Amino acid sequence: MVPDGHNVAAADLGRIDGPVDLLVDGIGQLCTLDRAEDGRAGPRRGRALGDPGIVENAALAVDGGRVVAYGPSGSFAELAAKATLRVDGACVVPGFVDPHTHAVYGRTRQDEYERRLRGETYLEIAAAGGGIHASVRDLRERDEDELVAMTVPRLREALASGTTTIEIKSGYGLSADDEIKMLRAARRAADEAGLRAVLTCLAAHEIPAEFRDRRGDYVDLVCEEILPRVAQEGLAERLDVFCEPSVFDLAETERILARGLELGLRATVHADELEPFGGAVLAARLGAGSADHLIKIDAAGIAALADSTTVAVLLPGTVFTLGLRDYAPAREMIAAGAAVALATDYNPGSSPISSVPLVMAIACTQMRLSPAEALAATTDNAAWALGLGGEVGVLAPGRPADFLVLDVDDYRLVPYHAGRNPVRAVFRDGKRVVG
Ligand code: NIG
Ligand code: FE
Repeated sequence: MVPDGHNVAAADLGRIDGPVDLLVDGIGQLCTLDRAEDGRAGPRRGRALGDPGIVENAALAVDGGRVVAYGPSGSFAELAAKATLRVDGACVVPGFVDPHTHAVYGRTRQDEYERRLRGETYLEIAAAGGGIHASVRDLRERDEDELVAMTVPRLREALASGTTTIEIKSGYGLSADDEIKMLRAARRAADEAGLRAVLTCLAAHEIPAEFRDRRGDYVDLVCEEILPRVAQEGLAERLDVFCEPSVFDLAETERILARGLELGLRATVHADELEPFGGAVLAARLGAGSADHLIKIDAAGIAALADSTTVAVLLPGTVFTLGLRDYAPAREMIAAGAAVALATDYNPGSSPISSVPLVMAIACTQMRLSPAEALAATTDNAAWALGLGGEVGVLAPGRPADFLVLDVDDYRLVPYHAGRNPVRAVFRDGKRVVG
């Protein structure tokens, strides 16, 4: 019943039998992110990053929670639909995919925000027991229900800004029970808020205070107890390591990632954020789905990513929040052929930002992404970073109908109006969940 191909012709629509559930009509600008070549082949690179797959004056047909067809409005004249939504020239885009967040946490850390503004650095605050350690102490005091109750409103806020698929990491538990509590809370909160979620075990976020003088024992605990339990109980799909000189070194990172891969988890790495350290090269060598941050990535790291399927996930909201000057060298990475995506890094310390549109705005002005590149980096390529490439992040026949009706008629107005939420309505699996 689903026509093959992309921008359908009237003849294809004739092959749809019976009325469809929903016809969205009067779309002024439909950004499909669909690709003429096989969109399931891999993430976008180079010039492909700049093509939003626009159809003007379009309609979108949805049935059974999936897109069945899109094309010029006129070609849908004969199509029967159980419901029609007219959007008066609005721009419609795929739901955003946010491939890097730490959205489960307890209290916020505005005290540290203020200290940084007065001149203390992120690492100084961490060394004085703040940073990740502060969130670990806090999270260990709370039970799963409380964490769910705190996380649901945050996820609803992200959904209202257009995020329909989100990655959520653990990493503020740093013990088997607390990491598991966090992952369970993440799954429940995402279900309750109505977001599609990919969960990542980040037990290797920091060495917990009680292991400070025996860090090897903590790496053993992660490899021998935490990751096996997480994998066996199906609590996460991926694992992550904060690979930095002051946290986990390259050998520890490789051991932990290799163990996770052996257990069937997919890998991602917090890499080359504070100094060039080889994290991106390691991620590419191990076939990780993504290497994230990359503010200090060097030429070898860029070459390794360009030559791999590992997506470079850039987090400019973090640089902005920390008040730093240097952003990841996005243009160099794109020029070299790396697949670039964007994420919020939503967390209580370095990026209390859950809005993908705001991250797009920062990416455009500070890293010189074009609005089209920023859109592809928060939809199609972000999905590839999570192992959902070709499934979400595009509007194409057969794919889930996760889409946003914007209150603007041109996708470039999303980053242009920095700090404004342009989302009028959100649809997930063909159902209106916001607006
Ligand atoms: O991605 N880099 C490590 N983790 C977070 C910060 C978490 C925190 O400060 O609580 C990040 O920026
Ligand atoms: Fe992070």
